[in-house]
Amino acid sequence: MKVDDSNIIHIDSGQPVGMFDSGVGGLTVLKALQERLPGEDILYLGDTARLPYGSKSPQTVSRYAVQAASALVRRGVKMLVVACNTASAVALDAIRAAFPGLSVVGVVEPGARAACAASHNGIIAVVATEGTIAGGAYHRAIERIRPDALIKGQACPLFVSLAEEGWVDGPIAEAVAARYLEPLFADSGGENPDSLVLGCTHFPLLEPAIRTVLGPQVRIVDSAATTAEVVDSLLQEFNMLADPGQTGTAHFLTTDDVERFVRTGTRFLGRDIARERVELVDL
Ligand code: DGL
Repeated sequence: MKVDDSNIIHIDSGQPVGMFDSGVGGLTVLKALQERLPGEDILYLGDTARLPYGSKSPQTVSRYAVQAASALVRRGVKMLVVACNTASAVALDAIRAAFPGLSVVGVVEPGARAACAASHNGIIAVVATEGTIAGGAYHRAIERIRPDALIKGQACPLFVSLAEEGWVDGPIAEAVAARYLEPLFADSGGENPDSLVLGCTHFPLLEPAIRTVLGPQVRIVDSAATTAEVVDSLLQEFNMLADPGQTGTAHFLTTDDVERFVRTGTRFLGRDIARERVELVDL
């Protein structure tokens, strides 16, 4: 979707899939999308200047999210993936209202689906930012799929800083993970969650520390792969897949220091991000 000066909307399969996150965390979703749809071009925006979204009010997050979406729409995207749990939890309606012709995919619904599929006993733990937990979006999404589920939520704001810092395993990460997670799994009667959904794009990096604290039995899921599935099926439904045989490329926009985006983004993506693919933008 691209809106020209005369307010005419252009949308075609040659446009990239647009994605945004408050920072580099959404690159965990980008990675899953590239694995599933290697032919798609992706335009990714990391609003690093205003990270974190997770501790801000829903009104502020909605305003930032609409501005980020707008920057991507101005450049032309055929679909928008809100690769940020906090923005998905509080701002999807605002984004859809601002861009009525645009197909918008959030990560909460796919994450809830992954959690319900993983859980046998119906007791599901959700860890996310303060904003995502306070808004209750995961609770509602899980209950829509599995009305009998018992959901235990925990805000883990320090996980975001640990992931950004690269402290994803070892004693400090494990101590923080234990402090957040142990109360969720403290029912001595055996009524403990059998699955944990990582409801924040930063948290998959912390999986080594989380796994050490929880042990091997608890299933740990996130929304990256299920979100990629949703994007795939919508692109097919709208006949918007990239030309077969094309190799997709990714281009990155950041609202703050490019070098830092390259450095931390490389860690989240698990491979190098070329400096010339990253552009500094103001929203
Ligand atoms: N990207 C955010 C999320 O998935 C985490 C970082 C932040 O608080 O902005 O909720």
